[in-house]
Amino acid sequence: MAATIRSRREHLGRHELVRGDALGVMRRMAAESVDVVVTSPPYNLGLSYRSYRDALSEDAYLEWMERIGAQVARVMRPGASFFLNIAGSSAEPWLPFELMVRLRRLFVLQNHITWIKSVAIGDVTHGHFKPVNSSRYVNRNHEHVFHLTLKGDVKLQRLAAGVPFTDKSNIARRGHEQDRRCRGDTWFIPYETVRTREQKFHHPATFPVALPLACLTLHGVSSGSVVLDPFMGTGTTLLAAEAVGARGIGIESDTSYVAIARERLREVMNRPDRSE
Ligand SMILES: C[S@@+](CC[C@H](N)C(=O)[O-])C[C@H]1O[C@@H](n2cnc3c(N)ncnc32)[C@H](O)[C@@H]1O
Repeated sequence: MAATIRSRREHLGRHELVRGDALGVMRRMAAESVDVVVTSPPYNLGLSYRSYRDALSEDAYLEWMERIGAQVARVMRPGASFFLNIAGSSAEPWLPFELMVRLRRLFVLQNHITWIKSVAIGDVTHGHFKPVNSSRYVNRNHEHVFHLTLKGDVKLQRLAAGVPFTDKSNIARRGHEQDRRCRGDTWFIPYETVRTREQKFHHPATFPVALPLACLTLHGVSSGSVVLDPFMGTGTTLLAAEAVGARGIGIESDTSYVAIARERLREVMNRPDRSE
């Protein structure tokens, strides 16, 4: 929690980066002003962030996240989606589910997506994960993406976020209009391979751009859409918002992470191959 941080706003293209406390900043945002929220809050698993201490008591953490949830619900437009990425650990296996029970009074759990970071198919493994050194637990290769909505009735762009048929004969045989089917609720999204600390942006818990991109594509966004990440970190959600032509608002309490987000966004916006 960082309730005493004085917020500082800056604009970059059509995006807004706010250095400040997620709760305080959201409280000052207009109600029903956001189309999609994609975020990965601190998991309360003791990660080493630069300034935030990721080690509240379980009760304090759940209460804080419930207050965050209430503000997210308030700023969401009626047809908005809230994609909440979170994971437990072998020591805290219930935490994501405890959180979902708390958020139940605010949201409908419209979809529960499993983000698979690494998978073994037969004898071949794909992707990366942090190994667990234990004789009791298997490696944790997945995280949750809870798709929360206000009433459970948000229409999704299943085919836009979908995949082509493997067996093309299914297209005519089953009367599909295009070579595309719903991807389902298990998303295999590996991390991009990095070899240096710099490439990891000096942040312990980023998600790959493909994850918020998949969320935004599934919800469906247009050029006027507003995308919010109240725990922006290194700005990954804003990169995804930039890629789909939406307007991103990112809130982050740590000045250094805001600086990384700014640099990453600038780098993408200045690419010569970028079409306006
Ligand atoms: C899991 S990380 C988000 C990483 C992000 N998805 C990315 O790809 O870079 C959570 C972030 O929340 C930030 N944070 C912690 N408390 C906060 C608060 N009260 N308000 C805003 N941000 C906060 C941390 O500094 C951390 O960068």
